[in-house]
Amino acid sequence: MENFVFQSPTRIIFGKGAEAEVGKETKKFTKKVLLHYGGQSIKKYGLYDKVIKSLKAENIDIFELGGVKPNPRLDLVYEGIKICRDNNIDFMLAVGGGSTIDSAKAIAVGVKYEGDVWDFYTSDKKAKKFLPVGVVLTIPAAGSESSNGSVITKEKGQLKKAYVDENIRPVFAILDPELTFTLPKEQTLNGISDIFAHGLERYFTNAQNVDFSDRLIEGAFKSLIKNTYIVLDKPLDYAARAEIMWIGLLIHNGVFGMGRIEDWGSHMIEHEISAIYDIAHGAGLSIIFPAWMQYVYKHDINRFAQFAVRVFGAETYYGDEERTALEGIKRLKNFFKEVGLPVSLEDVNIPETHLKEMSRKCAGSGEIGNFVKLDEKDVLSILKLAVKQ
Ligand code: NZQ
Ligand code: ZN
Repeated sequence: MENFVFQSPTRIIFGKGAEAEVGKETKKFTKKVLLHYGGQSIKKYGLYDKVIKSLKAENIDIFELGGVKPNPRLDLVYEGIKICRDNNIDFMLAVGGGSTIDSAKAIAVGVKYEGDVWDFYTSDKKAKKFLPVGVVLTIPAAGSESSNGSVITKEKGQLKKAYVDENIRPVFAILDPELTFTLPKEQTLNGISDIFAHGLERYFTNAQNVDFSDRLIEGAFKSLIKNTYIVLDKPLDYAARAEIMWIGLLIHNGVFGMGRIEDWGSHMIEHEISAIYDIAHGAGLSIIFPAWMQYVYKHDINRFAQFAVRVFGAETYYGDEERTALEGIKRLKNFFKEVGLPVSLEDVNIPETHLKEMSRKCAGSGEIGNFVKLDEKDVLSILKLAVKQ
């Protein structure tokens, strides 16, 4: 196990009706918020009214900025920064999914910075001051509700970049599984794919003696698979929605990766796809991961065989570990296919036109990933494997 330091300051308020607490939680920090949200979902399904009521009950002044798009855009971040500065707003309240939360985090960082907030997404620079961010989560997926990351897209140049900083973890996250009942099947699945991917990025590691966290991640995978089938059959099953929501937060708040060396190559490749084609992050990941696994499995056949046996109950072919390893990749791909996720670029009608450009943007200025270091040529090979699977 590697040395590590872990601290997660996010207060988690979980359960039926938890969103009613948003006013009280927010009041601990401020009397004035910028309420940030996405498209119409929170208004359509009544969450907006509940949040406003709870904030008003605590006499909190509310400014609003809706319109966050999936793959959140830098232009709206600039707009949010201006609203906060013009009105002396000192708290960001994100109500929505990863895109809304990431946009709120970017605004929170940008308000206190004299330069261009994009600097943090394109260099090693770290912010010195921030506004606190609170969250009411509506989709289990990105894990941004307690993560240290924010991912923003700059449309000019089709750039999608991450800023990682321990100080941008939200101060509270409110999770009511009932809020996820309204998710369309496709969004439920995109979220599940992202949650799975956050486990895979941590599972495939070169760190030795990480048995406990191996088991934690494997347990998350098994529970996620089981509950995916339940919600596909019964979208209003509270227990299954609750399990998925809790896994989505825990698998990406850092604790499952402690003592390990995480990979993140597949995420970086996926970000290049969604930067150009604006597909859902989760859909890109269910395409890239099987291809990445196929490309790197020989690096540690035992680990891949362990994944196959422990997560998917594959048979152990003693003396032929490679066969077991490949079975795991096949079963993961079959799981994605069976539930209705795409597993190839063809499945989402992405042509081969930009594969070279994506590889260059991804690894042209340095290798990516840690399990296996990938250069531009490797990334291109993975993208080619992903064309048709
Ligand atoms: O915009 P609205 O109308 O709210 O609709 C959203 C959106 O269209 C809809 N939705 C959300 N909750 C709903 C709902 N529809 C009905 N009922 C509900 N309860 O779902 C759509 C997707 O929302 P979005 O916020 O984009 O989803 P997600 O949480 O998957 O976030 C994706 C973004 O997070 C980034 C991704 O790259 C992507 O930009 N990530 C952020 C990370 C982080 N900050 O730690 C890590 C991840 O790896 C990821 O990169
Ligand atoms: Zn992700």
